[in-house]
Amino acid sequence: MKLNMPVTSHEVVLRDDHMIVSKTDLKGLITYVNHDFLEISGFTERELIGFNHNIVRHPEMPPAAFKDLWDTVKAGKPWTGIVKNRCKNGDFYWVEPMSRHCTKPTRSWASSPCATSRAKKKSKRPAASIAT
Ligand SMILES: Cc1cc2nc3c(=O)[nH]c(=O)nc-3n(C[C@H](O)[C@H](O)[C@H](O)COP(=O)(O)O)c2cc1C
Repeated sequence: MKLNMPVTSHEVVLRDDHMIVSKTDLKGLITYVNHDFLEISGFTERELIGFNHNIVRHPEMPPAAFKDLWDTVKAGKPWTGIVKNRCKNGDFYWVEPMSRHCTKPTRSWASSPCATSRAKKKSKRPAASIAT
């Protein structure tokens, strides 16, 4: 499990028109990121391309969520859930990704702003309990 530290308590709130898109190979190595991904995460393209998607893994995300993700996409099925990601500077953002092209040699991933993040904040539930 990749432990990306440090983290802050500051949330980068996505606008409604933000759409984070990334593509990986079958091992999860990033092959493409769009401008919104760079703007929100704070990483440069050079720091992302060729690296595993766990570069934005937030330490509060439970391993079980990613096991479910990989079991699902390896079975050729689309996966969706709620994911808390870590920015380069330790801030965080919520996304609700939709995986596509699961059976092709690349996997692409479009993440819209998480519509339920307000509800989660109110209930104080960690992403884990929703994402798994
Ligand atoms: C298309 C695709 C997109 C992914 N997006 C994310 C993501 O946004 N955040 C994340 O933490 N992991 C994402 N993952 C899963 C990571 O590759 C990795 O399995 C996860 O971060 C756990 O990594 P670790 O067990 O090596 O720590 C994605 C995987 C794929 C195939």
